[in-house]
Amino acid sequence: MKIAIVGATGEVGRMMIRNLVEFEVPVSQLDLYASKRSAGSTLYYMDSAIQVMELTAAAWDKSYDYILFSAGSGIAKAQAPEATKACQLVIDNSSAFRKDEGIPLVVPEINGSLLKGYKGIVANPNCSTIQMVLPLAVLDKLFGLRKVVVSTYQSVSGSGHKGLATLQAQREGSDDLGDYPAVIDLNLIPQIGAWLDDGYCAEEEKMHSETCKILANEKIHVCATTVRVPVMYGHSISVYAEFEQKVVLALAEEKLSQAEAISFSANTFTTPLDLGSSNESHVSRLRHGGDDYSLAFWNVAHNIRLGAATNAVRIMLKHAGYEA
Ligand SMILES: NC(=O)c1ccc[n+]([C@@H]2O[C@H](COP(=O)([O-])OP(=O)(O)OC[C@H]3O[C@@H](n4cnc5c(N)ncnc54)[C@H](OP(=O)(O)O)[C@@H]3O)[C@@H](O)[C@H]2O)c1
Repeated sequence: MKIAIVGATGEVGRMMIRNLVEFEVPVSQLDLYASKRSAGSTLYYMDSAIQVMELTAAAWDKSYDYILFSAGSGIAKAQAPEATKACQLVIDNSSAFRKDEGIPLVVPEINGSLLKGYKGIVANPNCSTIQMVLPLAVLDKLFGLRKVVVSTYQSVSGSGHKGLATLQAQREGSDDLGDYPAVIDLNLIPQIGAWLDDGYCAEEEKMHSETCKILANEKIHVCATTVRVPVMYGHSISVYAEFEQKVVLALAEEKLSQAEAISFSANTFTTPLDLGSSNESHVSRLRHGGDDYSLAFWNVAHNIRLGAATNAVRIMLKHAGYEA
């Protein structure tokens, strides 16, 4: 496969390169793009040293099978439509196209069938949404999902390089807030993204609109409170969900244990530090939510892996007819 990664030097881009190795993707050509700042630097794919190139429109004179974008919404809007002329599929990690009608928003284990015969841009969902919607899709099939109330605990790597650098600097005594609206070290911040008119912030709105789009049900109510916490890697979510039908706890446990891309723990819990290099959505502490029509659970996943790079690489592999 001939593959290009845009934003290859970022947290997500570097993980995409690791995933190509880990999933033994048959790569015949790998071109790495970033901004002018990183052009000329070297990244490694297995034993091959690859020089990072500055992204310019000339990149799309070449021909690829797949182009993975992970460089933010601005670059995606400016470059992804042109890039579709150079490949079968552009997979974009930003929020630029997620709400566009006609652009599939894909978690392969849930709605990967949308990829069949599709060409153009595919949107990779928001990190917290991917990990949460995997177990919700299983439960939705069993009992009919109606309403979800969540609080998230999102790591600083969710803000890319800069988030990690800001936490590290504050830990060493800096009072630079970086891009955050408050101090993050030894603190937490209940705002991720810009404020909206309805009192929610952008990340919360994404969890609502993207959950409905992926589960193909606009009637699901999602009330999210998204919180940045001083954790380096791994997002955690406390989930409460209500259903149309009576919940059978044992059946929920059985189906979650068997589901693809989910690791279910009946008797213990997962913390962000436990994740290591896991590509799965970890579900634990499953219990009734106070009545027979609801469930509560604890959900943890690696935001750079499952929440970004791994889902994108799985989209590519599914489209190409491979399984990750
Ligand atoms: N971090 C997460 O948990 C996560 C989860 C889901 C989705 N995402 C999305 O994934 C994307 C990347 O996130 P990240 O965390 O990897 O961010 P990051 O660590 O800040 O990396 C950003 C990447 O974009 C590149 N870039 C910036 N301006 C560019 C330009 N003008 N032309 C070409 N490349 C440019 C950077 O290259 P330089 O090295 O040259 O600056 C770098 O490779 C974002 O859209 C983000 O919203 C991130």
